[in-house]
Amino acid sequence: MGKYRVGVIGCGDNTKKKGPMGYAMAWAHAEAYEKLSEQCEIVACADIVEKNARAFADRFGVKNIYSDYKKMLAEENLDIVSICVWMALHAQMTIDAAEAGVKAIHCEKPMATTWGDAKRMAQVCNELGVQLTFNHQRRFGAPFVIAKEMLKAGEIGEAQILQYGCGNLFDTGTHFIDMLSFFNDETPAKWVIAQIDYRKPNLVFGADHEGQVWAAWEYENGVMGMAASGPGSPIIGAMDRIVGTKGVIEVGVSSMNKLPLRIKRDGQTEWEVIDTKGESIHGPGFIDRAVADIVDALTTGRESQLCARRALIATEIIFACWESSRRRGRVDLPLDVDGNALDEMIKAGQIG
Ligand SMILES: NC(=O)c1ccc[n+]([C@@H]2O[C@H](COP(=O)([O-])OP(=O)(O)OC[C@H]3O[C@@H](n4cnc5c(N)ncnc54)[C@H](O)[C@@H]3O)[C@@H](O)[C@H]2O)c1
Repeated sequence: MGKYRVGVIGCGDNTKKKGPMGYAMAWAHAEAYEKLSEQCEIVACADIVEKNARAFADRFGVKNIYSDYKKMLAEENLDIVSICVWMALHAQMTIDAAEAGVKAIHCEKPMATTWGDAKRMAQVCNELGVQLTFNHQRRFGAPFVIAKEMLKAGEIGEAQILQYGCGNLFDTGTHFIDMLSFFNDETPAKWVIAQIDYRKPNLVFGADHEGQVWAAWEYENGVMGMAASGPGSPIIGAMDRIVGTKGVIEVGVSSMNKLPLRIKRDGQTEWEVIDTKGESIHGPGFIDRAVADIVDALTTGRESQLCARRALIATEIIFACWESSRRRGRVDLPLDVDGNALDEMIKAGQIG
């Protein structure tokens, strides 16, 4: 078999300070493909900013650059496409790539800016037999993997409540609510109740976010979920927290500069800090492992750890939180509105 022909959409500017106006995630994807050079070759990239495409192509030895990603899809006979643009563009680009005949799409998180788009991109790829994955790379991080191993070994008994606490539900929340799915064997939620506060624009990668949320939900297996974002997030005190019948595990402890992992079992008076082999909640190595997983899944035909089926679980909870705030009540799932309640409330002048 020849090498997979990889194309990248949205190259980013790797010289800029990294933050919510740009991380140049394409470079992290490309470094990971580079480590798989026996299986993958980045043959083309597309960006509307020529200097971003040019710098990316120079660094990674990419032969062909495009300003129009559709032209790249039409001309390059790609096997794998990495989509590294801001979230409002994810759905259409994914559908265009699937319809152009690629075999696999690795898209940055969050899935899309509406629940309808998230479902649509998954459905189109499913129907066309295209592997669709999202870069929830923490599924390959030692703090999270060890936390799950400790949970499954019964060190804190049975999971009762899975909690998330941090800046926002969508941009950051998609990672850490997805990790709650990882801990809970990819179980969907059955209802969500939430209240949000939105006082001023809170744009991250071009998409609006609530300023604060307080949310609870129940998974289909009876495990409860909770989230607090913004100024209320210290209520949770960790990025992810697993409350079991016989103890608690915390990942990314807020008061301890995001200490990666600690556990308190029944009978212990002090927290036990767990060695995560030099890995924080951000890395290193997570994206390399994520890309290796999607390439291996494509080769072997198995389901990727990062597949759309899994990503949809956290995405539905997030959109249902905003919808619950709009309805002033509990939202039973599956979520029956396709839009983005936060955006719609802002546009209607109901909040903010
Ligand atoms: N997985 C993670 O940990 C992580 C971290 C940061 C950001 N992200 C996500 O990655 C995505 C991209 O963020 P980023 O920080 O890399 O963005 P970025 O701004 O650094 O790069 C985006 C690039 O897309 C290009 N672009 C815009 N419109 C385009 C179009 N129509 N066609 C082709 N190129 C186009 C821009 O010119 C820019 O070069 C976002 O969804 C963000 O949420 C993920």
